[in-house]
Amino acid sequence: VVAPPPGLVVVVAPPPGLVTEVLEAHDGASKGKYTIGLGQDCMAFCSEVEDVISMSLTVVSSLLEKYNVDPKQIGRLEVGSETVIDKSKSIKTFLMPLFEQKCGNTDIEGVDSTNACYGGTAALFNCVNWVESSSWDGRYGLVVCTDSAVYAEGPARPTGGAAAIAMLIGPDAPIAFESKLRGSHMSHAYDFYKPNLASEYPVVDGKLSQTCYLMAVDACYKYLCSKYEKLEGKQFSISDAEYFVFHSPYNKLVQKSFARLMYNDFLRNASSIDEAAKEKLGPFSTLSGDESYQSRDLEKASQQVAKPLYDAKVQPTTLIPKQVGNMYTASIYAAFVSLIHNKHSELDGKRVILFSYGSGLAATMFSLKLSEGQNSFSLSNIATVMNVAEKLKSRHEFPPEKFVEVMKLMEHRYGAKDFVTSKDISHLAPGTYYLTEVDSMYRRFYAIK
Ligand code: ACO
Repeated sequence: VVAPPPGLVVVVAPPPGLVTEVLEAHDGASKGKYTIGLGQDCMAFCSEVEDVISMSLTVVSSLLEKYNVDPKQIGRLEVGSETVIDKSKSIKTFLMPLFEQKCGNTDIEGVDSTNACYGGTAALFNCVNWVESSSWDGRYGLVVCTDSAVYAEGPARPTGGAAAIAMLIGPDAPIAFESKLRGSHMSHAYDFYKPNLASEYPVVDGKLSQTCYLMAVDACYKYLCSKYEKLEGKQFSISDAEYFVFHSPYNKLVQKSFARLMYNDFLRNASSIDEAAKEKLGPFSTLSGDESYQSRDLEKASQQVAKPLYDAKVQPTTLIPKQVGNMYTASIYAAFVSLIHNKHSELDGKRVILFSYGSGLAATMFSLKLSEGQNSFSLSNIATVMNVAEKLKSRHEFPPEKFVEVMKLMEHRYGAKDFVTSKDISHLAPGTYYLTEVDSMYRRFYAIK
């Protein structure tokens, strides 16, 4: 057994995007619906030259280069994704040329994990467990979360997004797992699923997916609290963690989720709830579980009570998800990246709780303990390498008409063969991989800018 292994978050690769307010007007939605109603600022999407494989190639090659990691030092590579390009061949195998061609390393375990937005967390846990296990050979694990979140026209479309994130896993890192402090909730639900294999779009029951998400928040928090209490002999509350990071389909749901934690603390009579909060939430103390998910008054009151703590403990984690949209598997880690970007100099010794949710459904709430770290693997260097502000600023803005055009083209391209792309890479940053061709045998070819 080795020291608690960390996830070392490294590179986000958000493709270009559009401004939510502009999309709102284009779609004829009421003013404020996407920006205030959903809480989103911008949304990224893959143009015809990018996909989950090209984004993964970009982040993995960037991580190896920026941290000066020899590809031979990688012993496990796991990918989490729900974007299906091939029903058999894993995305992981598309990344192998980065190891095989550069240094002949084919001795790398791991394949892909899938369950909606949870696949990245499953991949991360697999890697962490490997490093902690008797199978570990002393090398690094590498986790990639990659998705292109696209929806059919309708209310879900503005909650799309796209990105890939790569994380390096090894001992003695600045971001360590508190592996015993974890609660999961797994259940059977038809809230969001992809039964139509001829389409990239999911079938979504939007309202049900919101309720399933909030029920999972409650259940995971309950399990995490009870494990903490068994371990530490005292009650856990929101006050015991500095920050809370949520999977972010859209920001409004994150606001509601944190308010839900406050409501849980209120029901458990936890120390985070002061007299004023008790008074405001008092009328809701006898609601049944079902009633509490339906109550608009509770939603309003708990969001109001939670606002100051939301601003302190959640808001610093929301930058990238608000700017890029739902990135499915990458969403929660993009939120975590936002925290490192905003607060890297204040995180030493702090506990961060993360909530991962994938429809269908699978969810886990887990805990990380942060320390400043050293040299290239220090939080401040990670923040510098990630260069989030510059990456967001240098994105290209597309008009909604272009977005709709790309969505139409991709509907034809999905599952298609025998085409070459336009190779218009003017909007890509140097070092970005892009798709050039899919041949008559469905084989995909990529190049680097
Ligand atoms: N100004 C301000 N707010 C507005 C305005 C306006 N002009 N118009 C509407 N709103 C508010 C609504 O009041 C509502 O807020 P509330 O939730 O606080 O009540 C919000 O905007 C959304 O509007 P609705 O009419 O309730 O919902 P809509 O039909 O637009 O659908 C939904 C929203 C369900 C999130 C849809 O986008 C969807 O299905 N998304 C994909 C599913 C999803 O992301 N689920 C989450 C978990 S699963 C996953 O991660 C994929």
